[in-house]
Amino acid sequence: MRITITRPDDWHLHVRDGSVLPHVLAHTVRRFARAIIMPNLTPPIVHVADASAYRDRIRAALPAGAEFEPLMTLYLTDATSPNEIERAAEAPFVHAVKLYPAGATTNSAEGVTRLAHVYNVLEKMQRLGLPLLIHGEVTSRDVDVFDREKVFIDETLSKLVNEFPALRIVFEHISTREAADFVREAREGVAATITCHHLLYSRSAMFAGGLRPHYYCLPVLKREAHRQALIAAATSGNPRFFLGTDSAPHAREAKQSACGCAGVFTAHAGIELYAEVFEAAAALDRLQPFSSEFGADFYRLARNRDTLTLERKSWRVPESYPFGDSAVQPLRAGEQIQWQLVARNT
Ligand code: DOR
Ligand code: ZN
Repeated sequence: MRITITRPDDWHLHVRDGSVLPHVLAHTVRRFARAIIMPNLTPPIVHVADASAYRDRIRAALPAGAEFEPLMTLYLTDATSPNEIERAAEAPFVHAVKLYPAGATTNSAEGVTRLAHVYNVLEKMQRLGLPLLIHGEVTSRDVDVFDREKVFIDETLSKLVNEFPALRIVFEHISTREAADFVREAREGVAATITCHHLLYSRSAMFAGGLRPHYYCLPVLKREAHRQALIAAATSGNPRFFLGTDSAPHAREAKQSACGCAGVFTAHAGIELYAEVFEAAAALDRLQPFSSEFGADFYRLARNRDTLTLERKSWRVPESYPFGDSAVQPLRAGEQIQWQLVARNT
């Protein structure tokens, strides 16, 4: 069986920087036409000038002949100025601003410590129509790691959505039933990305027969009931939910460590893994809108015109892929994936 869909976009992606950049990008550009590039480098991408230089490095690292557009974002800090937001809104290559609560995840130390510090910036974004992308977890050590998304909704997000009634918001990589419900019922202008790993696995995968660091990401995988709620949201045909892989590569030794990094690498099968989910839910006809339409519409960009063909034929994922001087272990390493890429047609 084959399916042909409009070429998809990845609305949440980490490509890192430096020597790993060409290795990581090669996987994405084979599948996706565009991707929202996360700004959590060290140091983070906080100014439009940083985003411009990073975009140049990404474009220079693309395989010859690749047709791929990096959609840049800024990293919000307590010190971001409304003037920088004005520059961002004017820059054609900046598409959003990312809010990491300080300490919530990888390279978030310079994130926002108190929302009150960025109210003037959010006000400006609301006025200029620049979307805010949110890593929606509280950071308090008192809150159980499995509850951090839900508590963030209750303590922060509900208020934010009301206080900035016209701010366009993407609740990134939602992982709970509560988040799916919140987005479905929220006012206009609130959307969410959903990763393939949160659709494919529940938290038990992290402990299957032993501790499996390659399933560790943030927000952490949740119970099966949450996964089912995410599948229902992704396959519902509701335009508020769209594809964002959050493919987040780390060198194998950084994952397989006494204190392993959060992040799952899925760019090597960034659309194929979603095809598995949609097929299992008998919703393959909804894969195209989720992957190739709703995100573009939210970001007010044209939908792609070229297509991608996938075939239902299993293949074995390599144990690792090159990653600068090291290697990255992809999701399903050494195991089968049920769909494969056949062709891209223009
Ligand atoms: O698992 C994750 N990895 N979650 C994030 O929010 C950040 C990402 C990364 O950059 O590695
Ligand atoms: Zn991410």
